[in-house]
Amino acid sequence: MEAGDVRGMSALPESFRALVAEKGEDDVARELKTFQAQDLPEGDVVVRVSWSSVNYKDALAVSPKGRVAQISPLVPGVDLAGTVVEGPGEGSEVIVHGHDLGVAHHGGFAEYARVPGDWVVPLPDGLSARQAMALGTAGFTAGLSVQRLEEHGLQAGDGPVLVLGASGGVGSTAVSILAGRGFEVHAATGKAEEADYLKGLGATEVLSREETSAESKRPMESERWAAVVDPVGGSSLAYALRTVRYGGAVAASGLTGGTALETTVFPFILRHVSLLGVDSVNTPDELRRRVWERLASDLRPGALDDAITREITLEEVDGLLDDVLAGKGVGRTVVSVAGGE
Ligand SMILES: NC(=O)c1ccc[n+]([C@@H]2O[C@H](COP(=O)([O-])OP(=O)(O)OC[C@H]3O[C@@H](n4cnc5c(N)ncnc54)[C@H](OP(=O)(O)O)[C@@H]3O)[C@@H](O)[C@H]2O)c1
Repeated sequence: MEAGDVRGMSALPESFRALVAEKGEDDVARELKTFQAQDLPEGDVVVRVSWSSVNYKDALAVSPKGRVAQISPLVPGVDLAGTVVEGPGEGSEVIVHGHDLGVAHHGGFAEYARVPGDWVVPLPDGLSARQAMALGTAGFTAGLSVQRLEEHGLQAGDGPVLVLGASGGVGSTAVSILAGRGFEVHAATGKAEEADYLKGLGATEVLSREETSAESKRPMESERWAAVVDPVGGSSLAYALRTVRYGGAVAASGLTGGTALETTVFPFILRHVSLLGVDSVNTPDELRRRVWERLASDLRPGALDDAITREITLEEVDGLLDDVLAGKGVGRTVVSVAGGE
């Protein structure tokens, strides 16, 4: 969209629709409401949100036990894409994710958002706002995980790369990105019925979550993986460290399988294994922009527009969040917010 096109588009109206989560004694009440613009937080940029997406962290943010939400009431939604209607870059299409968005600052499940200017990433050439949210926080994290592993030295041809939690958002996009780059991808999932889906994304082998989260007293097992993408954590991360090959690396980003890590020093000191942390929230701006540029080009998942992505409306978000927390999510879900097309 050209800068001038925004003139026909409404600047920030007095009120608009937003999903609002409010913490009670033992629960969190969620409701799609008319939200007053004056209740938006401080910021120099107002974005008309066209698309958002559903991430595991959104489900944590509206869960009484989630310990993610830092304000109440809160408009959740840890990512958004849309058009700047007020502030620097007016008329341009942008992405916002991470920082405090959707946890301590009203987020993407609303028709408008106001954010600090330094949270804004320009929509890269080659990606529509919908595609940016089909990737969203999860796709960004998958891209950053692959970038971290390749910086470590991983190359196609090095051997199988294991993706844990493969049917979820980070997992599906990681499978598709890696397969597109010529890696041999093995996918681990708790959903046996999604084996064909994962093979369609490019996985050549599908393992059960049972196998990749089994406890073991042995500090190391047979060397299997050139590298592991791990958005699961817990016993699955321990498994990854026990089974990654000499000199290999594990990129750890998530906690759906637990936050505790029981391991020994042996994979590190006998197999030269590296554990690489992956954080999408406070990623330095230059790296954040670079990963988005790559997601629009050489890291772009082949299945982004069809197999990976399904679309819902703002009205349908609330009903999905409990399923996501229960690990039932498959692929990525984009949310059409304010006339996203
Ligand atoms: N570090 C960061 O900056 C960052 C950024 C984005 C996401 N994350 C984290 O990455 C993880 C995945 O996020 P997402 O948005 O991709 O979530 P998602 O779409 O809801 O996917 C989560 C997947 O985790 C798998 N899983 C494995 N063990 C599980 C268990 N015990 N209970 C529930 N699910 C289990 C399931 O896949 P299978 O059935 O295929 O096993 C599930 O579909 C979350 O922990 C999230 O907080 C971190």
